[in-house]
Amino acid sequence: GEDPKIDKLIAENDKDAELLIFTSEQRLIKEQYEIDQLQLAVDATARGFDDMIKVLPKAVAHERGERVVEGAFYGRARAEGNDLGYNTIAAAGSHACVLHWVRNDGRVKSGELMLIDAGIEMDSYYTADITRTLPVNGKFSAAQRELYMLVYESQIAGFKAARAGATITDINRACHEVLAKGLEKLGALPVSAEESLKPENGFHRRWTLHNVSHMLGMDVHDCAQARRDVYMGPLKAGMVITVEPGLYIQPDDEKFPPEFRGIGIRIEDDVVITDGDCINLSDSLPRHPDEIEAWMEKLVK
Ligand code: GLY
Ligand code: MN
Ligand code: MN
Repeated sequence: GEDPKIDKLIAENDKDAELLIFTSEQRLIKEQYEIDQLQLAVDATARGFDDMIKVLPKAVAHERGERVVEGAFYGRARAEGNDLGYNTIAAAGSHACVLHWVRNDGRVKSGELMLIDAGIEMDSYYTADITRTLPVNGKFSAAQRELYMLVYESQIAGFKAARAGATITDINRACHEVLAKGLEKLGALPVSAEESLKPENGFHRRWTLHNVSHMLGMDVHDCAQARRDVYMGPLKAGMVITVEPGLYIQPDDEKFPPEFRGIGIRIEDDVVITDGDCINLSDSLPRHPDEIEAWMEKLVK
């Protein structure tokens, strides 16, 4: 499909579809070179997050502050890598409740959170896929911190579940259990967390919106042509996945008191599966609210 002249020279081949599946499945387990490339992508992305934090005061002063943040990351991606691995999501305030907010044309306001999902692709094409949710003014409010901690604890449960022999479904369940219990405690669920977690119910999904893991590699959603039972089957050492739980309270959601409305939080890290605990390639980027506040204080003078 690249060059019509060459296409004409090659007989139609119904094995193409099979080859696509085969190569996708060959890519599931990463060798050391690939993991090294992913680590380089993650490290460049971490520096890109520093750049975005540094530019926040400028972003707050600009009427399209989200673009100012996006632009800071793009500079880093082009300087250190080949390109972005995918379009940057720079979602301030309630834009974070729009899952793939890539218009990035909104204001960035002090007192609100900003959800940033960004990844640099190296010249080898391996890409990071990292999300951090940051308080624009450097300090979480009580409500922001309360919701954030739920996602934080959910991600820790996800990390614990992410090991060889487990499945992506197991990781998803581990993360959603924590989120559903937290939503029950906050009084948002119409039933118990246990009831909600039954597959036929899923009331908590109103606020969790998406599943928490996918393969990562040369594509941000790597190995997407693999057969479903292989992709969703037992994880093996050397696979690299994301762990990315989230909670999203729409701006008009009356199930929550006003101070919680319009808050969207996701934390996303890139991990290597092993026979023991997973290895978090993006562990250098702060995740806990106290660490995030310290990180921002150091960078924004
Ligand atoms: N950035 C796309 C994703 O997190 O899957
Ligand atoms: Mn992802
Ligand atoms: Mn992402």
